[in-house]
Amino acid sequence: MEEILKLPDLETTYRAIGGCEIEISSPCCLIVFGAYGDLAKGKLIPSLYLLSKNRLISENFFLLGIGRQEMSREQYFELMQTAVKSVYPKDYDDAAWSEFAMKLYYSSFDFASSELYIKFLKEKLPPLEKKHQTRGNRIFYLATPPSVFEPIILNLGMTGLSHEDEGYSHVVIEKPFGRNFDSARRLNSVLQQYFKERQIFRIDHYLGMETVQNMLMFRFANSIFEPLWNRRYVDHIQITASETLGVDHRAGYYEEAGVIRDMFQSHILQLLALIAMEPPVAFEADRVREEKIKIFRSIRPFALDRINEYIVIGQYGKGEINGKEVSGYREETGVSSGSIVPTFAAMKVFVDNWRWNDVPFYIRSGKRLSNKKTEISIHFKSVPHLMFSRVMKESIDPNILVFRLQPDEGISLTFHTKRKGSRICLEPVLMDYVYQKGVSMSAYAWVLLDCMRGDQMLFLRQEGVELTWSLLTPVIERLESFTQAEKFPDYEAGSSGPEAAKSLIERDGRSWRPL
Ligand code: BG6
Repeated sequence: MEEILKLPDLETTYRAIGGCEIEISSPCCLIVFGAYGDLAKGKLIPSLYLLSKNRLISENFFLLGIGRQEMSREQYFELMQTAVKSVYPKDYDDAAWSEFAMKLYYSSFDFASSELYIKFLKEKLPPLEKKHQTRGNRIFYLATPPSVFEPIILNLGMTGLSHEDEGYSHVVIEKPFGRNFDSARRLNSVLQQYFKERQIFRIDHYLGMETVQNMLMFRFANSIFEPLWNRRYVDHIQITASETLGVDHRAGYYEEAGVIRDMFQSHILQLLALIAMEPPVAFEADRVREEKIKIFRSIRPFALDRINEYIVIGQYGKGEINGKEVSGYREETGVSSGSIVPTFAAMKVFVDNWRWNDVPFYIRSGKRLSNKKTEISIHFKSVPHLMFSRVMKESIDPNILVFRLQPDEGISLTFHTKRKGSRICLEPVLMDYVYQKGVSMSAYAWVLLDCMRGDQMLFLRQEGVELTWSLLTPVIERLESFTQAEKFPDYEAGSSGPEAAKSLIERDGRSWRPL
């Protein structure tokens, strides 16, 4: 039976920025578990600061950070102030920081102890809610290692914090959502004991990137591209998410995850779904998410006995990035010296439906590559007949449409024109749209704002998460079972990845776009 939605009583207030009306958050409090971890310092708090500076958060807001370490409110401020200054040096200003800092609180307690939740609920939260008039709207943000997701959710549920008496109660879960199909299912079932699907916000910050959202506008607000968006006109599609960063100090997590869990299960497959999906009937959370789910359902399962034809993995060795020597993955602190964890993967994927039958999607992602770049390129088919072949030798490169997600967000299209002069000579030219910055905001800021407003469009639905895990779990298990330690490292830091990744696409007569 379909659940009758009790939507939170959200007042809608808008603020005009850069020619656009942006909806301001509803009054709410944000309770962040893992309040001084990498995620909180690197993304969450700086993004909230930007939202506050741009006056996109309701005045009736406060953040309660929770961590295991004892520290005073002042110490917490200082830690976060340093973080904001280092992430957004240009956007930092003392007055905006002081205003934001007045809404920050910190408490230390053990995530696993249910007694403390009761104490916390009874003693700490209500007076703050009264002071800041947040109308009972609560967001619980789990910015902790995945190993403590379950105890936190259980304790929230058992102490009644998931109930929506006065306002809404949302829970935000960071990726990776589980580490395989079974654990994702178990986590979902723990969540669903206490929270309804509309209260659960499974976050993937890639969906908050401007150009990612723009892909939907581009596809469905322009009539000229959609007729070409299919197997008749598209030769293949490439998705690249390359990073220059290594594993840094996240070895503990990364040794358990590896690139397929870290980047493919959510970020890259989400991008693939947005590029491949059918037009939703309305620009509404569930309609958009339904279409993405249909794509996940249509992805052809990988032939495990011929996995090398479809997937290449690699691991970085030492090398040079931006003129600096960097160590190999196995030499990073916390990584085992014989680790077989992949830091690079490239895959050839097919979407078995009417629109995309037999059109390959080549997708790749890796750490310590030569450039930081996330882009999607649509490679159209060549012209059917080369009428210039008698008078000119050059072959004509097919048209390519590129969505640059980061850096230099924008969209470009290559096409051919005649070069000026008497000879018949074609010249590829680029039509380039550079994203105009309306308001400087991070992907995290947009998704946080949506969560405060109760809009789930940019969040993952349970079914989608389970489908992507069911596609990738057998692949990961297979790769883990036969990868020999001697195979790695197989690409130099600062390169474009392992040689085998080139062969994956070149044997089909195609090539990767340069990084
Ligand atoms: C995270 C991954 O989700 O995305 C990281 O866990 C990765 O390993 C990061 O570095 C990349 O995000 P962005 O926004 O820098 O491309």
